[in-house]
Amino acid sequence: MLVDGTQMRPIWFDADLKIAKVIDQRMLPHELVVADLNTVDDVIEAIQEMFVRGAPLIGATGAFGVYTAVLRDEGCNDDRLIAECDRVKAARPTAVNLAWGVERVLGACIDKTDRAARLAAALEEALAVVEEEAENCRLIGEHGLALIREIIKKKGGGPVNILTHCNAGWLACIEYGTATAPMYTAFDKGVDIHVWVDETRPLNQGARLTAWELGKHGIAHTVITDNAGGHLMQHGMVDLVIVGTDRTTWTGDVANKIGTYLKALAAKDNNIPFYVALPSSTIDWEMDNGVADIPIEERDPDEIRYIQGLDDAGNLAKVLVPPPASPCANHAFDVTPARLVTGLITERGVCRASKEGILNLFPERR
Ligand code: MRU
Repeated sequence: MLVDGTQMRPIWFDADLKIAKVIDQRMLPHELVVADLNTVDDVIEAIQEMFVRGAPLIGATGAFGVYTAVLRDEGCNDDRLIAECDRVKAARPTAVNLAWGVERVLGACIDKTDRAARLAAALEEALAVVEEEAENCRLIGEHGLALIREIIKKKGGGPVNILTHCNAGWLACIEYGTATAPMYTAFDKGVDIHVWVDETRPLNQGARLTAWELGKHGIAHTVITDNAGGHLMQHGMVDLVIVGTDRTTWTGDVANKIGTYLKALAAKDNNIPFYVALPSSTIDWEMDNGVADIPIEERDPDEIRYIQGLDDAGNLAKVLVPPPASPCANHAFDVTPARLVTGLITERGVCRASKEGILNLFPERR
């Protein structure tokens, strides 16, 4: 996507195809820093410490991680490669895309017994993952646009007020984003939209990343506190909710950033459509009960204790909020049951959040 006139993606290879480069998202919006991922340890650190984040980007980084593992291994040892892949897959637990990206590249290269052939196969597959996810997001934008147009028709004009949570934008994917893809597509076609951006505590992916992305693209948006959505919905100020997801079961239960479930409850109570945008790489084809079984990451409580921003001198600074002795608990995701989800926007179209709805779009999974 365009950042101040320059085309950017959140991940790419250097010119020699030896080092993965990523935007270090911890520094945005105040600094645009690029980090080099030279080794598998670098890849794992980037995922765990959230230089990179968002389900499709974590999947793509995992895919690049397998190529990095092959590249850094002098030999062509299957056991070593599988062990490195297991380490990458364990970096974060909730987004199913990570295991998907790793396994896809591993599956494409493990049968090659010659190192050069293994390297070439891993590279080709990692690049394919990235390009396919970019195209999937573009398609999600097209399908989501139809929903926005329907709302305009019903309202008799714009703007359509869309509420989103966390960052499911191009920074979290490769291009367009998932939840934001319909917004970019609508805006680019001249459709009148305005986006309510939940700040998304504790790491403020909404206030820092979604607001930055939308602002760079010129899309009208307003940052709100995480708790404001219900009030805005009660007062007719939200027409549509679109969020992303880290893992959606094939039965339609949706794991996403903590706080998503409360937005879905408020949307239901106020008769507001609540859509989840996702590429099929985010569907867990084995899990039936998301609320019971999706692993929910618990992160360092310090992410709650400290808030990062610019100080008066213009330097990035962290400040402590609660009393130092107060315990904090940092559950990073929650699960919205399928019954609260109006529909899923995928690369193949929009469907109900149910086994039937999903299998109608992906019949090869029956
Ligand atoms: O902890 P994060 O920032 O990785 O959480 C990201 C989200 O919750 C996104 O909404 C989700 O990954 C979808 S990204 C298209």
